[in-house]
Order: sequence, then structure tokens, then C-alpha cells
Amino acid sequence: MRNLNQKVIVLTGASSGIGRATALALAAEGAVLHLVARREQRLAEVCSEANARGGTATAHAFDVRDTEAFARMASRVHADHGRVDVLINNAGVGATKAFLETTDDDWAWTFDTNFHAVVRGIRMFLPTMIEHGGGTIVNVASLAGVMANTLAAYSASKFAVVGMSESLLLEYGDKGLNVVVVCPGVISTEIATASIDAGRTNGVIGPSLQKLLAAHGAAPEQVARDLVRAIRHPRFIVPTPMHATVLRRVHRMFPDLARMLTRRLS
Ligand SMILES: NC(=O)c1ccc[n+]([C@@H]2O[C@H](COP(=O)([O-])OP(=O)(O)OC[C@H]3O[C@@H](n4cnc5c(N)ncnc54)[C@H](OP(=O)(O)O)[C@@H]3O)[C@@H](O)[C@H]2O)c1
Repeated sequence: MRNLNQKVIVLTGASSGIGRATALALAAEGAVLHLVARREQRLAEVCSEANARGGTATAHAFDVRDTEAFARMASRVHADHGRVDVLINNAGVGATKAFLETTDDDWAWTFDTNFHAVVRGIRMFLPTMIEHGGGTIVNVASLAGVMANTLAAYSASKFAVVGMSESLLLEYGDKGLNVVVVCPGVISTEIATASIDAGRTNGVIGPSLQKLLAAHGAAPEQVARDLVRAIRHPRFIVPTPMHATVLRRVHRMFPDLARMLTRRLS
């Protein structure tokens, strides 16, 4: 899919960070965007910015854990366009606690958003994609979905996304479906702040991750650029940006060394 002009694209988690940067990058290509997040005001601002850049953006403010709200959005998009060319499952959260502090509820919160909502989105849009000869599904996982970090619930939810995505590719890859899994490294976004605001931190890991991302995280625009490139030239796993590519290579070649580095960083 080289030309994104007028392509119908659904993007979750568009109100901040990687999702916002991706929405703006796609808008500059002339895409027709359906943007999802809970914070209505922030989403409206992203829509205005996207429209100013040449896109056509519509806001859908709802929680991706809400199946009925998700279905309402999908019906509306199908009614308006009759098709979806690209689905980008980007909405995500992370509990910032040690393993033994992470409760059943933290595990459920993480998996409901990072995994079950991704499956839900795919089930809503895959049938029409296949009917129309194919499409592209981009799941934003994480580097922590191919090499674990010490946030077990987050990492496990992202490994689940990678595994599910590979199954999807195996089943539908020869029916015109492209499946891309974007694996960002350390990116300067609001994800740690969201964890703190949601009360999903032990009070130490959340604030230190927040500082790490602000001081050393790459710009979300770098991820957005690689994500848009991957829609044009699909490949299954897309580590981004460069530091994620390097770390993934180190992990594949020297797993013990990678684990030692990860432990130290944690
Ligand atoms: N930052 C990193 O270092 C990093 C690294 C690897 C992977 N990632 C992944 O990148 C993706 C984007 O995260 P980010 O880093 O850009 O963080 P972010 O700035 O916190 O953005 C997360 C987005 O997800 C939305 N969201 C969260 N829960 C939602 C829900 N239940 N329903 C609807 N929308 C929801 C948020 O919007 P509302 O709050 O308005 O709902 C927001 O737009 C996530 O999947 C994350 O796991 C991030």
C-alpha cells in the first residue's frame, strides 16, 4: 500500500504519544482517520491538528475495553466507508509494580487493554478486510514483547500480542492480509504518567520510569515514521527506533548478555 491518500485508517490510542504522532504523520499523507481514545478533549485537539495537516479525522471517544462501544464505532466506520484499509491497535497501558506487588486486577487491567482489546479490534475489522481482498493490521506491541523487561504483566501482554499476530499472519497472510507488529524501545510518552494516574504503580517504579522516558526516550515521531513506512512496506516485526533494533539483535545473538543489560537498566 504505497499511497495512503484517502485510505481509511482506524487508530486506537491516538490522544497522546505514539498514537498522536502516528495520526499526524498519516494525516500528512491525506488519510481518512478514525481516532480512538478516552480523553475527549485531547482527542479533539489531535483531530484538529490532523485536519490542519491534510487528513480527514473523526474522533471516537471510548474505552477500548468496552466491547459495545467498540462495535458501535466499527459499525459507523463501515456505514461511512464500507471498508477499512488499515487498523492500528496502539492503545496501551502498563502497571509499574514489582511482580509480587502486581495484583490480579493489575494483570486484568493490563491484558484487557493491551491484549483483549487488540483481539477485539481485529475481530471487528478483519471480516470486511478479507471481503475486500485484504488490508493491513498494525499491532503496536513493544520491544518488551520480544525480549522481556521486569514489568511482567506488561511484557507478558506484549508477548501475547506478538504470538497472536503471528497466528493471524499464518492464517490470513495468503488472503491479502498484512500483519505488522511494531516494537518500540524507550519512547518519551505519557505511558508512565498514565500508570501513576491510574494508581497502578508502587510509587517507585512509575516515577523512575517517567523520569527515564522524559530524559532518554526517543521521540514518538520516530516510531510514527517507522510505522508509516511499515504500512507501505509491510514486514512482520518492526523494532523502532534504532536502539530497539540494536537491542533486539543483541538479545538474539547473546541472550544472557541482553538479560544482564536489561536487569541493570531495570
Ligand atoms: N513509551 C514507550 O516507551 C513504549 C515502548 C514500547 C511500546 N509502547 C506502546 O506504545 C503504545 C502507545 O503508548 P505510548 O507510549 O504512546 O503511551 P501514551 O502516551 O500513554 O499513549 C497511550 C494511548 O492509549 C490510550 N489508551 C490507554 N488505555 C485506553 C483505553 N482503555 N481505551 C482507549 N484508549 C486507551 C491513551 O488515551 P486515553 O488515556 O485518552 O484513553 C493514549 O492515547 C502502547 O501500546 C504502549 O504499550 C510504548
